[in-house]
Amino acid sequence: MKKVLIFGVAGFVGGYLVKEFAKAGGYHIYGSDMVESFAQEELSAYYPCDILDGPACEALIESIQPDYIINLAALSSVRMSWDLPEKTIEINVLGAMHIMDGAVKLEKKPVLLMVGSSEEYEISDKALREESPLSANNPYGISKATLEQMAEIYRMKYKITIYFTRSFNHTGVGQKPVFVVPSFAKQVAEIEKSQGPGVMKVGNLSAMRDISDVRDVVCAYRMILESGSKEKVFNVGSGKASKIQEILEILIGFSSYEIKVEQDPDKMRPSDNPFICADNTLLKKETGWSPKYSIEDTVKALFDYYVEE
Ligand code: GDD
Repeated sequence: MKKVLIFGVAGFVGGYLVKEFAKAGGYHIYGSDMVESFAQEELSAYYPCDILDGPACEALIESIQPDYIINLAALSSVRMSWDLPEKTIEINVLGAMHIMDGAVKLEKKPVLLMVGSSEEYEISDKALREESPLSANNPYGISKATLEQMAEIYRMKYKITIYFTRSFNHTGVGQKPVFVVPSFAKQVAEIEKSQGPGVMKVGNLSAMRDISDVRDVVCAYRMILESGSKEKVFNVGSGKASKIQEILEILIGFSSYEIKVEQDPDKMRPSDNPFICADNTLLKKETGWSPKYSIEDTVKALFDYYVEE
């Protein structure tokens, strides 16, 4: 049995990743996060640990001796990163470095997967390839681009395998409504439950994003780790971009009541990339991955979740 250690296991993606490894089989799955306790039946054990506490991170990695480490712990909202730029850099760069520091100290070095973002890329109207130029235009994107450069330093200095994803948007039940799809789904569901017409608040509807189901994304993470690929940086995205306006229309279509849409200045950003779409050729070629879930089904699942909540 291999041992996989997941930092940030209590977050939105964590639970799905645990299920992904359990379904694949052959793993002892260990999880860590900041909360005192966290339970999921597929987890072999849970260990509370703040990734900003370097010695604690190193001690945890030393005690588990994992074969694989995945870091999902991050400040992941682009919108929030504008208000909390220092915290974003601290958690996303320094916290992740503590994990890499722990990994390089093991005699049998684990294989790591660090999660980056499509927000690292320079604005483009074409599908982004791994070779496309990077030039982040928000604190979150800058934090992930910095981490990516740091990971290269660790690879060079310690001869350790660190896979780095540039993950495109992903959603699913459990994602916080600070992100666009759960925000819209929750508002439409609340109007539906109120049994009358309602108003919803939105941000920039003209942006286009490549939005995957989180289950496809965690599958890609596992397949990258297991691939043994010599490539190090992978786009993780569906390869199809949808206009945010279209996502809104799908959701409004689920409602039986009239919905008025208002733009909320607080949901707008100082800058917002107009178009982000993945070229996922490399991921498919190196791992055999392909997406299984459609965005329409994922959006519907979120709506149903909030209606029943
Ligand atoms: N959050 C939010 N709320 N976004 C809105 C809204 C709204 O009411 N209305 C429109 N948008 C637009 C945003 O301006 C953006 O263009 C798009 O919807 C997606 O916003 P988010 O869901 O907040 O995600 P993001 O694209 O900023 O960041 C996500 O994707 C990245 C990969 O591209 C996050 O998951 C990041 O962690 C991830 O790296």
